[in-house]
Amino acid sequence: MTETIPQQEENPLLEGLLVRRTPDPCAFVIFGASGDLTQRKLIPALYSLAYRRLLPENFAVLGVARSEESDDEFRSRMEDAVKEHARDPFRQDVWDFLAGGMRYVATDFADEKGEDRVGKVLTELDEERGTNGNRLYYFAVPPSAIGTLVQQLGEQRSAEGWVRLIIEKPFGHNLESARELNALIQEHFAEHEIFRIDHYLGKETVQNMLALRFANGIFEPIWNRQFIDHVQITVAESIGIEGRSGYYEQAGAIRDIFQNHLLQLLALTAMEPPIDFTSEQVRNEKVKVLRSLHTPGPKSVVRGQYGRGFVEGEEVPGYREEEGVAPDSMTETYVAAKLFVDNWRWADTPFYVRMGKRLPRRETSIAIQFKRAPHPPFEETATEELRPNVLVVHVQPDEGVSLAIGAKVPGAGMKIRTVNMDFLYGGAFRTGLPEAYERLILDAMLGEATLFTRTDEVEEQWSLVDAIVAAWRRDRPGFPNYPAGTWGPPSAADLIERDARSWRRT
Ligand code: NDP
Ligand code: BG6
Repeated sequence: MTETIPQQEENPLLEGLLVRRTPDPCAFVIFGASGDLTQRKLIPALYSLAYRRLLPENFAVLGVARSEESDDEFRSRMEDAVKEHARDPFRQDVWDFLAGGMRYVATDFADEKGEDRVGKVLTELDEERGTNGNRLYYFAVPPSAIGTLVQQLGEQRSAEGWVRLIIEKPFGHNLESARELNALIQEHFAEHEIFRIDHYLGKETVQNMLALRFANGIFEPIWNRQFIDHVQITVAESIGIEGRSGYYEQAGAIRDIFQNHLLQLLALTAMEPPIDFTSEQVRNEKVKVLRSLHTPGPKSVVRGQYGRGFVEGEEVPGYREEEGVAPDSMTETYVAAKLFVDNWRWADTPFYVRMGKRLPRRETSIAIQFKRAPHPPFEETATEELRPNVLVVHVQPDEGVSLAIGAKVPGAGMKIRTVNMDFLYGGAFRTGLPEAYERLILDAMLGEATLFTRTDEVEEQWSLVDAIVAAWRRDRPGFPNYPAGTWGPPSAADLIERDARSWRRT
């Protein structure tokens, strides 16, 4: 295709991404360039940013990993990755721009000479591509590999240009290791140079929770214990562990999703209005929520592991039958919990949360269930089908917001039934939603940290998880305890039903 890419001001493709200043010239260095994240998310995100002309003109990508690969092999593999995973159609001119500044270095991070080779290629890229010594290092590597790398980068950092680090989750394995990692990084880098990524914060619908709450006058007055009966947060996946057994056996659902994505969704739902939308103010408010979370007792947390079953019509193996998983593995693939935020706004209002792999469908949602109307002046039979009002933020798929309200059924009499008022992104904005990684990579290039987690947030998240995991050491549930393709173990239903409530039917 020969047509040129429209400039920012006239480019309709830019809807859905905030168009601000263009980032400084820089080199984007990916540690872990032979891995899954790089090919499925990072390079396709860079391609989409290039497609929309949101990258600086002077830009380079350096991939680093142990696997041997030449520059050309790396480029060719990344081209295939873009064709397979990018949300935009493949355009040769866009790809040529990106591939023109793409290099690869094969090295073990433990090898100091490897760091010299990385440094040498970066200097060459500064000269060839005008990247001015600015570096954005992306750590797409297991947490165990981060320490050595940070130390080497810190010791070798030069005075020229800026340096920023994007660090993937999970950040450490528990509170102690997260603190050690924070201390190590902070020996060499300032907090404003550190971007701890939680890709859920880059999702449009997650940010929309802030817009919904703080750009509309009608919700805030009722967003509290007086009007809200309870909140339900669901992060359901139909997929299994996708060949990531080495990682998942160590992490389990609690470290993979609960510690980060789920607690961030809860913090955004429960936080107080920030004074402004600067990174410090937003994060100050989120951390207050995380600090107010009451440690749940053993009866308020349920864990599960899937057995063999059927998902979307296909038979799938149980977790213990997945390649690389121990036949007696006690790793959980499901967690449900009843949490309380101990503050004036939320005291005694339960937040029921659940997340798991191999559930019937993919669905992430936050449902705010309001209290029943205090006195409906209708006969009881007229309101049999009436449920309390529920505001649901559909994070994915079918992104949008819906509000369940009671409405009169047309006809004689006064029969009331629940109907939904829906807002769907696709219908309202007629634009594809950007991938979370596009937004987050762009923000890090601009030095904008609002959508990244701060040290204290990560540490609060780990404190809660450590307390839950410590309690788990005292018992040994009979795993597997839910068949793949079902909504989790029966004890998860008990968790909410003993409060005379039930999980939303999704
Ligand atoms: P992979 O196992 O697919 O890739 C890990 C990468 O790290 C490989 O490129 C590997 O390269 C490299 N690596 C590991 N150890 C070393 C070392 N000592 N020296 C040099 N390179 C090393 O993992 P993913 O890509 O799936 O995940 C990477 C990170 O991103 C993890 O922290 C994960 O939790 C996080 N993440 C991943 C998501 C995903 O969808 N994949 C989603 C969210 C977060 P080689 O073996 O060639 O050296
Ligand atoms: C990752 C987890 O952080 O998030 C994966 O490691 C999970 O296990 C993934 O599948 C889900 O992300 P998304 O954006 O598909 O909901």
